[in-house]
Amino acid sequence: MNAKPKVLFTDLIPDEWIGTIQDKIEIILNNSGDRFQRIEEVEGIFSLLNVPIRADTLKNAKSLKVISNMAVGFDNIDVQWCTENRIPVGNTPDTVTDSTADAAFGLIIAASRNFNKASADARSGKWKGWSLTNWLGMELSEKTLGILGMGKIGKAVADRARGFKMRIIYHNRRSLDHFTGAEYVSFEDLFRESDILSLHCPLSEETQGLIGRDELKMMKSTAILVNTARGKVVDQEALIDALKTGTITAAGLDVTDPEPLPIMNELFKLDNCFVLPHIGTSTIEARKKMAKAACENLLAGLRGERLPTCVNPQVYSDYQPG
Ligand code: GLV
Repeated sequence: MNAKPKVLFTDLIPDEWIGTIQDKIEIILNNSGDRFQRIEEVEGIFSLLNVPIRADTLKNAKSLKVISNMAVGFDNIDVQWCTENRIPVGNTPDTVTDSTADAAFGLIIAASRNFNKASADARSGKWKGWSLTNWLGMELSEKTLGILGMGKIGKAVADRARGFKMRIIYHNRRSLDHFTGAEYVSFEDLFRESDILSLHCPLSEETQGLIGRDELKMMKSTAILVNTARGKVVDQEALIDALKTGTITAAGLDVTDPEPLPIMNELFKLDNCFVLPHIGTSTIEARKKMAKAACENLLAGLRGERLPTCVNPQVYSDYQPG
């Protein structure tokens, strides 16, 4: 009998999520010390987004055939190195769409209705009675929702916003053909016209720090910024200043830079900023689907087959640029 391929897991995944894959592979897991200490033995890596996998680690992985990242984002992995070394990298799009869109919409409502301050006041004894003028927020109906990055999650947020009778505008590098659910606008107009701006672009060299002081200044003083993408897409110091000085009204953040965000960080001191600990995909449904998709990518890669969802298809000889 052939030995089972060894796969390095960067974290423990609940048994019921990864199911029978354990019959097919030998799991190498060291989540207390150096996670990668046995990397030279493994044919696969099953990773989560919180563990960076860089070239200086990967260069020791002499038998590596595949990296399967259980996330839609893959900025934790040195994909360029993987492509140069013909290692396919898998991610799990589709599986996270609804849970992330729900979280984004939760933040849209929380930030626009002042849930952060209202809840903190209720818990700290500042709730003295029903109030006519405290905790006032903004209605979503008839407001303009801007979406930066109209991919699957952006579209799912737009679907939800239509139910709230919002006008939807978006900006992508290119306008989407045959997409009628929202109006394409320029990058600048997205900032100028949005009452709520929701970020759905991946983190890359082009998007790192994309939302800086100039972009925040273009926004309405009544506007709200929502980020469920990656913290580094926003210049966080610029955001803190914008929230303090009233350049924009509020923010709802599921992602920050760094993560976890130190408890002394200014963002936690601001009543007008609602911070979540990166829970966009934290639903039982999403996590099960993500684990299943990541297992499928992993097994395909170990067998030398094409990954069902591969972020660097350039590794395949029949790759044709789209
Ligand atoms: C979540 O942030 C993911 O990339 O899956």
